[in-house]
Amino acid sequence: AARRIITIDGPAGAGKTSVSRRAAGALGLPYLDTGAMFRALALRLGPGGHELPERAIEGALGAMAFDLAGCGADTQLLIDGAPLPEAARTETVGAMASKLAALPVVRAGLRAVQQSLGRRADLLAEGRDMGTAVFPQAACKIFLDAAAEVRAARRVRQLEALGAPADYGEILAAIEARDHQDRTRAESPLAAAADAVVIDTSGLTEDEVLAAVTAAARAVA
Ligand code: C5P
Repeated sequence: AARRIITIDGPAGAGKTSVSRRAAGALGLPYLDTGAMFRALALRLGPGGHELPERAIEGALGAMAFDLAGCGADTQLLIDGAPLPEAARTETVGAMASKLAALPVVRAGLRAVQQSLGRRADLLAEGRDMGTAVFPQAACKIFLDAAAEVRAARRVRQLEALGAPADYGEILAAIEARDHQDRTRAESPLAAAADAVVIDTSGLTEDEVLAAVTAAARAVA
């Protein structure tokens, strides 16, 4: 039988990760944080990883094992048996991930892993191209957006909570650069699918965004 897939895409700092985790809990679905996969590869390859020979990148990716354990808000994405370290949530690692994410070899490799996870179980899948390229058949597609200034302020608060305080101006510049890179790459650029429900989260609380997401998901299945 076809799997029930819900996709949530959007730019950095739109509130995708925390809302996706909570929505997965409310809907009783395993949650797939695909950004964590790109970040894990960035950690594995280190700075400048995107300039390594294609075969080296392909080899590193092929040697990584991705698995989902549990369901709902407690879902764990395991990379070689362990969750992504919190230290990989920084904007520095995000920028490295974004450079790798523009490479066709990386996109093809991770897309295959993501689709295979989506054949094994129902999923709430979060990222940049879930509704457009990876799961075009998804029952419900959501695109979360927000003004760049709002997204930067949220990222600064998140980074403070992680114990990595950051400068607002620097974070704003960094996420604008990362979004530009993600939106303008040739393969699977960040974009709302034509049939996505677009939610501007700028003036909304996280609870309000969660309510809008779960309502959209429940409306279709
Ligand atoms: O969502 P997160 O900030 O963790 O993603 C890190 C980077 O990984 C993004 O900036 C993007 O370049 C890449 N990514 C992607 N496709 C996805 C998820 C993330 O290209 N589905």
